[in-house]
Amino acid sequence: MKILVVGSGGREHAICWKLRQSPRVSEIYCAPGNGGTAAEGVNVPIKDDDIPALISFAKDKKIDLVVAGPELPLVLGLADALAREKIPCFGPNAYAANLEGSKAFSKTVMRESGVPTAPFRIFDEFELARDFVREKGAPIVIKADGLAAGKGVVVARTVDEAVEALEDMMVRKSFGSAGDRVVVEETLAGEEASFLAFCDGRHYAVLPSSQDHKAVGEGDTGPNTGGMGAYSPAPILPREKFEETAELAIRPILRHMAEKGQPYKGVLYAGLMYTADGPQVLEYNVRFGDPECQPLLMRLDGDLLEIMLACIEGRLSEVRVKARPEAALGVVMAAEGYPRSYPKGMEITGIADAESEPDVKVFQAGTRTGTGDQEGKTLTSGGRVLCVTALGEDLAEAKKRAYEAVAKVRFDKCHFRRDIGDKGLKRLK
Ligand code: AMP
Ligand code: GLY
Repeated sequence: MKILVVGSGGREHAICWKLRQSPRVSEIYCAPGNGGTAAEGVNVPIKDDDIPALISFAKDKKIDLVVAGPELPLVLGLADALAREKIPCFGPNAYAANLEGSKAFSKTVMRESGVPTAPFRIFDEFELARDFVREKGAPIVIKADGLAAGKGVVVARTVDEAVEALEDMMVRKSFGSAGDRVVVEETLAGEEASFLAFCDGRHYAVLPSSQDHKAVGEGDTGPNTGGMGAYSPAPILPREKFEETAELAIRPILRHMAEKGQPYKGVLYAGLMYTADGPQVLEYNVRFGDPECQPLLMRLDGDLLEIMLACIEGRLSEVRVKARPEAALGVVMAAEGYPRSYPKGMEITGIADAESEPDVKVFQAGTRTGTGDQEGKTLTSGGRVLCVTALGEDLAEAKKRAYEAVAKVRFDKCHFRRDIGDKGLKRLK
């Protein structure tokens, strides 16, 4: 089968790497891809939001399956456009993708389907939102409705900060139309975990729990990033709680979407917060998390292609979705300065050396292969450069092995957190 993977991050490298292990996969294309995906298949210079170009490429090459890595193409209707061409797509249609594309939609669905989530109000007018915030007081959370590249959520500690965020979104339009509407919600406190499930419209099959590290600095300090590392399983959400958690956070959404005639197919990601009153859903994503995907797919014991096809064809109960018993941990190596401005074009060395150990994989994100006199080199081209991932007997061993691999990989102006996994290790003690 010929596969087209859409996206260019570490997540997409991991998806290509895992699909490559499937005996039925003959060719893999990745649009636009990165230095890592180029080694698993062929990169195609089409951006992830160029739906017409993706469709015509898929038709030309007679692609058998399109896998959407990020949310944007799904929100823009990639799955719907592919359905019109009768090309299978792993990822939900635009209606269901609104679970991530619109916070107001997502919160409303959560309320209607009985998913535990922070109490909220939706506003289209700045003055009304401001008055509400003044009445409620701080801390309070302000969320831009639309996609805002991970920057649309402000956990405001004071009323002034909250009003400032509202002004920024609704008056100054910092996120364009994504801020025309906002969700104002109660602040929750607790530890976060990610919980993902494959969905075929009616059934789900859970993946093990995982945990991301959003802040750029150790001890969760500094600005938020796309994620600086992840591990699985997350001790805060142990195996014996998976079914119960899925019934709380996954099943109601599947049921709701099916009732709307919009069955959810793809991977559904619930971002959970463990509060004193139990788990609450902070958000849904309609795709794998990045970097959670990297440790999760290293643990996945099964054929990703068969699982994806089963999701699309509504026969998930027929396939095996199992996880290896080991823990997995991935450390993101970023360019210094990320998530603000950072240098590019540095040469990366030591990847092959790191990967010479069994069950160590260096997933590439912001990388490209050099051309001309840089031929054969791998160069940095983004903020999150690599996600160095290892399996280990337990979390401590996975951490040790991942950091040993990190030590072998070098590039100028590199930054990584040394405390990936520590929250989990502390909980295990
Ligand atoms: P979201 O995109 O909704 O997950 O928000 C991004 C991040 O903002 C989450 O991972 C949390 O760290 C934080 N966050 C979102 N909603 C809340 C809330 N109600 N209370 C506290 N923190 C929140
Ligand atoms: N790691 C969080 C996300 O992918 O949204």
